[in-house]
Amino acid sequence: MSHLIAPSLLAADFLHLADSIEMINKSQADWLHIDIMDGRFVPNISFGQVLMPFIKKASEKPLDVHLMIEEPSKYIEEFVELGAEVLTVHIEAERHLHRTIQRIKAHGIKAGVALNPHTSVDLLDDILEDIDMVCLMSVNPGYGGQKFIYQTVPKVKKLRAKCIERNLNVHIEIDGGVGAQNAEALLQAGADVLVAGSSVFKAEDPIKMVERLKEIKSSFI
Ligand code: DX5
Ligand code: ZN
Repeated sequence: MSHLIAPSLLAADFLHLADSIEMINKSQADWLHIDIMDGRFVPNISFGQVLMPFIKKASEKPLDVHLMIEEPSKYIEEFVELGAEVLTVHIEAERHLHRTIQRIKAHGIKAGVALNPHTSVDLLDDILEDIDMVCLMSVNPGYGGQKFIYQTVPKVKKLRAKCIERNLNVHIEIDGGVGAQNAEALLQAGADVLVAGSSVFKAEDPIKMVERLKEIKSSFI
C-alpha cells in the first residue's frame, strides 16, 4: 500500500471553495483534510459545522476532520453526521480519550489522536491498540503556512517502532509545513499520511504537486 496525501482545505481560496474541492477531486489526493478551530484550544478560529455540508457535497474524497477544539467529545456525533470519515481529537484537549475513541469508532469511521509538537508519543502507550491514526503536529496548531519543526522526524521513527513492535497497523499522519522538501524524510521515518496545505494550494500547479508528493517512493510502506 502506498502512502496517502491529504491536502488541507485551510490553504484554499475561500471565495472559490467549489473550484478548490473540484481540483482536489481531480487530483491523486486520497483524503481532504478539514481543520476545525475554536479560538480556545488554538488561538485561531477557522470554520465549523456551517461549511461542512457544502464541503461534503462537493468532495469525492473522504473527509479527514481534525478537531482543534476544547471538549471535542461534545461534537463527535455532529461531525460524524456531517460526513467525517476520519475524525481526530487532540490528546491535550480530551480528558477521557478512551471513551471518546470508542464513541468515534462505534460509528464505523476511523478514530485519530493528534499530538502537539511538545507532546511525547509515549503518552499513547495505553491507547495505541484502540486507534486508527496518530496525527503528529509538525507545527504548533492554529495556522497554515508555518515552518516545519524538524524534531518531528525522530518522533515519527519512535512511534513507528512502537507500532511495529506491537504489530499494529496505525496510520501516522504528519500535519504542518509538509511539502516536497521533507516528504521523503517523513515517509522514510515511517509516516504514511501527509497533510499538505500551502505546499499544494499555493503551488503553481496544485494537481502536479499532489502527484509529486504521491509518487515519492519510500522503502518503508
Ligand atoms: C495547522 C493545521 C494544518 C494546516 C497545515 O494548525 O492543522 O492542517 O492546515 O497547513 P500547512 O501545510 O500550510 O502547514
Ligand atoms: Zn490539520
